[in-house]
Amino acid sequence: MASAQGSVIKAVEWAGGGVRLLDQRILPGKINYLFYKESSGVASAIREMVVRGAPAIGIAAAYGVVCAARRRYALSPGTWQREIAVDFAELADSRPTAVNLRWALDRMKSRLGDISGDPEPALLAEARRVHDEDIAANRRMGDLGAQLIDQRCAVLTHCNAGALATGGFGTALGVVRAAYASGHISLVYADETRPWLQGSRLTAWELVQDHIPVTLIGDGAAAHLLKQGGVKWIIVGADRIAANGDAANKIGTYNLAVVARHHGVKFMVVAPTSTIDMQTATGHDIPIEERAADELLSVAGVRIAAEGAQAWNPVFDVTPADLIDVIVTEKGVVAAPDARKMAALMKADR
Ligand code: MRU
Repeated sequence: MASAQGSVIKAVEWAGGGVRLLDQRILPGKINYLFYKESSGVASAIREMVVRGAPAIGIAAAYGVVCAARRRYALSPGTWQREIAVDFAELADSRPTAVNLRWALDRMKSRLGDISGDPEPALLAEARRVHDEDIAANRRMGDLGAQLIDQRCAVLTHCNAGALATGGFGTALGVVRAAYASGHISLVYADETRPWLQGSRLTAWELVQDHIPVTLIGDGAAAHLLKQGGVKWIIVGADRIAANGDAANKIGTYNLAVVARHHGVKFMVVAPTSTIDMQTATGHDIPIEERAADELLSVAGVRIAAEGAQAWNPVFDVTPADLIDVIVTEKGVVAAPDARKMAALMKADR
């Protein structure tokens, strides 16, 4: 089977003049790619979870801008730079929490002023740079994070922060891959991650392909697992890290951080600096996406909850900085994060 290390399985790709997305809603049962030539299709794909994971949606949106520019320029070569604002807004609104989306769009927008004539070559080159830099960041974070795991142990991860959620290789799973290769990880526990099951469908799939031993647990089993003592690190990704180090990630991450502190287990957040939002002061200011109640009330389209019951479905939560032992970025590692250390990290050249 193909490897998910970033070389073969690609969640996002520019191919044949459009955006090719691996449909993550139906993995691992079916491997199917969807193809988009228009930015509105890319925006829908992000909203509907065809592509998900903070860096991956940023990359998909960057390629979406290339589609938008091509269409707007063909329709109106003189005014396309004004009219494309609608497409930027549609892409930006597709999901609210992951700041990588806005970061990638701002970066693409910053190129518009330099362009005269056909915008596609310059914007495609920029989108490819966004993509390539993400893969390089993941490799660097993998090395930095793996160096922190100084004894052979089991680790626990939540959701999917792997090749599927990024340009390739992964953030949290990048660290897992690097630490497993150096012999420091014996076993990965993966939370199943209700309701989209990113842990059981995606993380387990990636790790099995890489021959990294993976054991699934129900989301509610983490405290019981940590009490046994074999897990020394919880390693997760992030969708947005505020200026004070508070980190938003998949719902249930905060539970893990509380339980980790109680049991003396270290808590590592792995995210590129494109996930750090210095304009958001604290986690209180991070918008938390709430998705349809039906995602909880039904499974595979079949209602399982009692008729008449309602559901509340926030899909991210915020882990306060003081529960995070270390944030690993491509620019370096921040231990016991706070506002001063995050500002210093973001000012550093590398
Ligand atoms: O709803 P999702 O699947 O997009 O949520 C993804 C996560 O929460 C990931 O942990 C996060 O985006 C980091 S991915 C490197």
